[in-house]
Amino acid sequence: MSTDGVDTSRRRFLTAATAVVGAVGVAGVAVPFLGSWWPSARTAAAGAPVEADFSKLEEGAMMTVEWRGKPVWLVRRTKQNIEDLPKLNSVLRDPKSEVESQQPPYAQNETRSRKPELAVLVGICTHLGCSPTYRPEIAPADLGPDWLGGFFCPCHGSRFDLAGRVYQGVPAPTNLVVPPYMFLSDTRVLIGDDKGEA
Ligand code: FES
Repeated sequence: MSTDGVDTSRRRFLTAATAVVGAVGVAGVAVPFLGSWWPSARTAAAGAPVEADFSKLEEGAMMTVEWRGKPVWLVRRTKQNIEDLPKLNSVLRDPKSEVESQQPPYAQNETRSRKPELAVLVGICTHLGCSPTYRPEIAPADLGPDWLGGFFCPCHGSRFDLAGRVYQGVPAPTNLVVPPYMFLSDTRVLIGDDKGEA
């Protein structure tokens, strides 16, 4: 009986030892993979610039890229959109982008952008951080006859125009943020880097 008992425990020990060796073996494979993957993931989280190709973005359309874990919107504004922007000045809280923290100096202009046709905005509401919805339609029933396209935040009803400028009388206190960015070509931008111009 006692011999059987010894054999059984030895078998149990060997089984356990094999399992541990197996786990170490797996860890040995996993570590080099993590070693090469982790630094780039960490760099991205810390704010590495992100390149965006908007060559396929049609007039009036929007695309989203991720930068620092946040959505960044690229909107290719139409000629009409650009002409409409000054018409809204009297109903906006900061039409001239005087709150400097919300954009780099090169975006402190009528379109809040380096080129009038392309809006680049951090897609996070300046009230409590929801992501607003892109509403490019003119005068949709739910937004009223004066709506000329923009962004509507479904959380508490803040409204922004197509330059990310906030309307008066809504909870969001400031315009949407324009991130630092630069053009790499006519259809590519680098978000998160402007070679120190900000
Ligand atoms: S988070 Fe957008 S209105 Fe409150």
